[in-house]
Amino acid sequence: MNVSMGYGKGDDDASERMLNAALDHGYTLFDTAAMYGMGHSESMIGRTLAHRRNEYVLASKCGVFRNAEGKSEINGRPEVLVKTCEDSLRRLQTDVIDLYYLHRIDSKVPVEDSVGALADLITAGKIRTIGLSECSTETLLRAHRVHPITAVQSEYSLWSRTPERRILATCTELDIAFVAFSPLARGFLTGKGSDNSQLPDNDIRCTNARPRFEPEVFAKNTELLTPYKAIAERVGCSMAQLALAWVLAKGNHVVPIPGTKHMEYMIENAGAGDIKLDAETVDELDQLINESTVVGTRYTDNLMASIDSERD
Ligand SMILES: NC(=O)c1ccc[n+]([C@@H]2O[C@H](COP(=O)([O-])OP(=O)(O)OC[C@H]3O[C@@H](n4cnc5c(N)ncnc54)[C@H](OP(=O)(O)O)[C@@H]3O)[C@@H](O)[C@H]2O)c1
Repeated sequence: MNVSMGYGKGDDDASERMLNAALDHGYTLFDTAAMYGMGHSESMIGRTLAHRRNEYVLASKCGVFRNAEGKSEINGRPEVLVKTCEDSLRRLQTDVIDLYYLHRIDSKVPVEDSVGALADLITAGKIRTIGLSECSTETLLRAHRVHPITAVQSEYSLWSRTPERRILATCTELDIAFVAFSPLARGFLTGKGSDNSQLPDNDIRCTNARPRFEPEVFAKNTELLTPYKAIAERVGCSMAQLALAWVLAKGNHVVPIPGTKHMEYMIENAGAGDIKLDAETVDELDQLINESTVVGTRYTDNLMASIDSERD
């Protein structure tokens, strides 16, 4: 996502160099979506990495669009998903997408219909496996009865713990991978983030109204970073690496997908794979930063009410 939208404009040449180098630094999974830059992200991956297609797992997503006013719209109708997949395959310059997610659950379309369309895409050889993003446990169980679900992708980090209510355990029981997006808390846990008064208008930390990036809330939460930084120093890693190591410690089936457009961050984040936190440190982090110690919710109340995963 970051090479196309979200956290400030990237430089395409630099992003392409970074994507290639990521494969050399041991990354094995790339996560994109039809919605990221309205095809820009998928086109970049196709242009840059199609010649190394057998070196990585390719994940993309369907079912969310930007309308003419630039606002997100959810559409999980079968014919829309099938058409999106055709367009994604062309942009990605590949015959098959390894993991294809329904980006958001469409409350107007039974999940059985959306997942049924994705199952047909497997039969047609266009995708290999199915994922759901930001789904509730109930939706996951309904979908899993139509076709086995391979991965659930939702926001999960020290400061966003919704998956701990129920779905992480369900994924363990059903042998489903849990893919943690925004594992760096959208930059907050790196210690290099800033509140939304310092960010450009097109940064999603401003435009989509994320309360934790409001200046006063951000300042309050930043107090947590002093003891957090001390733990990183004791472990001997950067703050970003500690955030990723914490996610990795949550189970073999839990996969963090940090986003960046900077070569140096990509290399730093890869280093988290070598850090094994002991149980005491995981516990210490759990107590220090969690939804009771953090001020503010991850989205505004309106947005939270529209997200299926928050029903858990
Ligand atoms: N399924 C969904 O609905 C959904 C939603 C959001 C994201 N995602 C996926 O998850 C990926 C990651 O999530 P995310 O990008 O939202 O959040 P994130 O990984 O928690 O944080 C990204 C932010 O942290 C910065 N950053 C990354 N590594 C850093 C480091 N080592 N030191 C300092 N700053 C660092 C990035 O800066 P720069 O960008 O400036 O390098 C960016 O501002 C996305 O790329 C996307 O593929 C999925």
